[in-house]
Amino acid sequence: MGKWFPRIYDMVMLPLELNKFSKIRKALVGKATGRVLEIGSGSGINFRYYRDVSHVDAIEPNPVMNKRSIKQIGSSYIPIQTHLVGAEKLPFADNTFDSVVATLVFCTIPEPLKAIKEIQRVCKPGAKILVFEHVRMNQKLLGKAQDLLTPTWKKLCDGCHLNRNTLELLRQTKISIHKVECHFKGLFLTVECSKEVK
Ligand SMILES: C[S@@+](CC[C@H](N)C(=O)[O-])C[C@H]1O[C@@H](n2cnc3c(N)ncnc32)[C@H](O)[C@@H]1O
Repeated sequence: MGKWFPRIYDMVMLPLELNKFSKIRKALVGKATGRVLEIGSGSGINFRYYRDVSHVDAIEPNPVMNKRSIKQIGSSYIPIQTHLVGAEKLPFADNTFDSVVATLVFCTIPEPLKAIKEIQRVCKPGAKILVFEHVRMNQKLLGKAQDLLTPTWKKLCDGCHLNRNTLELLRQTKISIHKVECHFKGLFLTVECSKEVK
């Protein structure tokens, strides 16, 4: 893990947060209910947006980010516990959570399919899975540009893949996708899904 990236992340993101992301986060995170798992909670930017939930378990493997997120717990209305772990091996029992929140994180998870399968395992049947991600764009040239930029981008931005097709990864699993909303011409997506009810 890079050390400087977590330290400047919030500052770099501030213009986007003020312009658009805060509204997207508020709307998406506000849909979480019951016991919630947040994946890669970073500096805890989503904590203030939880409303109708009983408890949040926030996992984050980067100690610098995790430390920052603990400071944000005070800005929340509900109990939040952080865990210094990655999404590929979650320290929770099967069928634990009513909702999962993942924002700007599947781009960085080294093994995203493994993480999605773990998320499915710890979710109750029908649990909400609320995702906000940047993804590989459908436009040929822009997608190609993202492919070309990704090796350098990954080095600069702590493993972030500019060209990850998270929607396609979700489609490869047994998650039901209910709503996909595009932002910035499809560079960012919000995806509302749920764990299949057998
Ligand atoms: C771009 S930041 C996003 C942080 C926050 N979710 C947000 O919306 O601003 C990506 C986060 O994913 C975390 N991350 C990296 N590998 C991970 C993994 N295997 N499991 C969960 N989170 C991971 C990073 O430490 C970082 O905090």
